[in-house]
Amino acid sequence: MGFVIAVDGPAASGKGTIAVRLGALYGYPVLDTGLLYRAVGVGLLKLGGDLDSEAAAAEVARRLDLTHLEDPALRTRAAGEAASRVAVHGDVRQALLDFQRAFAAREPGAVLDGRDIGTVIAPGAPAKVYVTATPEVRADRRFRQLVGQGEAVTYDEILADIRRRDERDGHRDAAPMRQAEDAVLLDTTEMTIEAAADAARRIVEAARARWEGSPG
Ligand code: C5P
Repeated sequence: MGFVIAVDGPAASGKGTIAVRLGALYGYPVLDTGLLYRAVGVGLLKLGGDLDSEAAAAEVARRLDLTHLEDPALRTRAAGEAASRVAVHGDVRQALLDFQRAFAAREPGAVLDGRDIGTVIAPGAPAKVYVTATPEVRADRRFRQLVGQGEAVTYDEILADIRRRDERDGHRDAAPMRQAEDAVLLDTTEMTIEAAADAARRIVEAARARWEGSPG
């Protein structure tokens, strides 16, 4: 296995930015796995399908072109909500598994961010960071981002979204969001994104030194 960096955590914790910075630092490809679930949710809604139908959602997941995830429609509030609803289905997660595992197997390394990278997708990853922050701070970040994208939302709506998503992602049966036992917790509540990225870099550098020094 190459040097896989698993960055997990709840919505708007800063994990996406951290993953991109780490990818740039090491020259590794970065996969935002949330986009896969967003693409399934948005794809299913476009077909007029039911987000609660595991069979319909899994069918969309199996047909998805996983290499084209740059549609701005995937970044909306509605897409995040749809993603978390289809992400509860085990068959959807199964359909997205091989692509994520193959990405993680890329040499000399890869960065993946999501909810279950350190626990399910790449449990053997030598570097794992679990990024978190209070719901209020995450809601503030996401609110500013969505307003910047031109969405008409209120802070309270976004805070409610964040709480609902944390609850759903953390309590589903299939690969619930949780910190892997060997992941390092990074609480970014009081940090600027610069400070958070720097803290993540130090965590990963320490993991890299251990990995380089370990036999095999
Ligand atoms: O990270 P992002 O907010 O884009 O993820 C959208 C939703 O996709 C999450 O709320 C979660 O339900 C789901 N997801 C997941 N597993 C991942 C990544 C995202 O279940 N590895």
